Parts: sequence; C-alpha cells; structure tokens
Amino acid sequence: MPLELQTIESLLRTEKLGRPANHHNELWDSIDSTNTRCAVLVRQGVEHGAIVLARQQTAGRGRLGRVWISPPNAGIYFSFLIKPDKPVNNIPLITLAAGLACAEAIHSVTGIRIGIKWVNDLILNGRKVGGILSELCGSAVVIGIGINLEKPADGIPADLAQTMTWLSEGNTGEIDLNLLLAELAFELEKSLNSLMDDRKDEILNGWRKYAVTLGQHVRATIGDDIFEGDAIDINDNGALIVKTSSGLKTFHAGEVSIRRTDGAYC
Ligand code: BTN
Repeated sequence: MPLELQTIESLLRTEKLGRPANHHNELWDSIDSTNTRCAVLVRQGVEHGAIVLARQQTAGRGRLGRVWISPPNAGIYFSFLIKPDKPVNNIPLITLAAGLACAEAIHSVTGIRIGIKWVNDLILNGRKVGGILSELCGSAVVIGIGINLEKPADGIPADLAQTMTWLSEGNTGEIDLNLLLAELAFELEKSLNSLMDDRKDEILNGWRKYAVTLGQHVRATIGDDIFEGDAIDINDNGALIVKTSSGLKTFHAGEVSIRRTDGAYC
C-alpha cells in the first residue's frame, strides 16, 4: 500500500501530532529534504504537529553533515514539526525519545524488533536501517526520520554496503506504511509527553530496552579526539557514559562505533 496522506490521517491516534491548527500535513513525491521543508514551515508560523513526508529526497541530510540517500520506493522520509510547551534545551533526549518511538512503532506494526545505537541509529541485524536528525529551529524542533525499506534498484554507494540494511531484511510480509506512519506519530507524541511532563525516566528506561550500545566496547569520536572504552549507561540527559582507561567520560555528541568480534568498529 503506497503512502497516502488521507489514509495516514484516518489512522492517526494522536491528540495533536499530525493535526496542526493552521496548516495541513504534506506529502511530496520529491523534495530536497523534509527537514528543510519543516524549517520553512516553522519560519512561516506553522503550528505544532505538522508532518512532512516525501517519497524521495534529492538532498536528504544526516547527522554530522552527512548525506542521507533517499531514492524513491526504497525508504520513507518524514519530519515532524514540534513546538513544545516548554523550551527545549536537550536535543539528545528528544532524539532518544524519537528513537524509542521508532522502535515501538516498528515492532507493533511489523513485529520486527530493531535496536538503537546511541544516539540515533536504528539497527537491524547489526546494520543501520534508519536514522533520526533532530534540529532546533528557534523555539521549535524538527524531528526528521528516515527508514530504509528495500534495497534501491540502482544499488547503494560502495562505502555503505557493509553498514546499511532495509526493513525487508526483517523477513516480514508487506508493511503497511500508512499504519507505520500513524503509529510512529502516536508513539512519538507519547514519548514527547513523557519528556514534557518530567517523566523522562520512561524515555531513558524505554530506550535502554532497545540499546545495542550499552555493555559494548566502543570508540567515540568527537572532532579530532578519539576515546575507547566500555559504554556503561546513559545519564539523565541522554548522554553516553563510557568507562575509559582514564576514567568515566560522558559524551553529549559525536559518533560512537561498537567493536565487533573481529576487532573492527562499526
Ligand atoms: C542520521 O542517521 O544521520 C540521520 C538521518 C535522518 C534522515 C531523515 S530522512 C527525513 C529527514 N529529512 C532529512 O533531510 N533528514 C531526515
């Protein structure tokens, strides 16, 4: 079943997400980036809750300035415009909340249990099946999510061949994408409400259930600095705590790779 705005909206179980007061949700056949479009909507004064979806992105953006390849029929690409009641000063926690929402929604709709690699990587069988890019936009936050569905017919860049995968590898039947989107909105609203209502333990503990990073030997790269050690937990702000040979270090940003059994980091 292809993505269809009306069908998604008819399936929504949310109070506010997907129901912006002064705009409508958008589904594009092709757009540069749904996050970029959401940022434009923020500047135009669109209210909380708008969803922007695309069947293809021509300039999809990932974390740390990377490109998010977004060919048609290979993935879903979407962003939520969030205008929280309270100021947001903790992007990692928002990203954790979004990761948890993705894991819960994917599980309930497809039966596939993905993992989450700190901070935003959605993992299936050790490979990346999706990612989240949360961006502050004035007092609003844009939460962009990309989920790989099928291997693109044109193939993928060689450097991604070892690290990327698709939900179709989860051996499920055909996925109801409209239901997946509606459930994701529902789970995201639930997670964000927990954050806003000072019930962040629900997010932290929920996230820990899906974490593939904790208990692993990791390499954390921040700018030019590289640290290695054991990832032992996340703190109350969603930062990763790593036990290194020079003591405990806390990472709020950067890239964390997990050491595989062959010694390589991925
Ligand atoms: C990452 O893992 O680096 C984050 C990837 C986020 C990709 C999504 S696709 C929808 C939204 N629009 C973008 O340009 N990026 C996000």
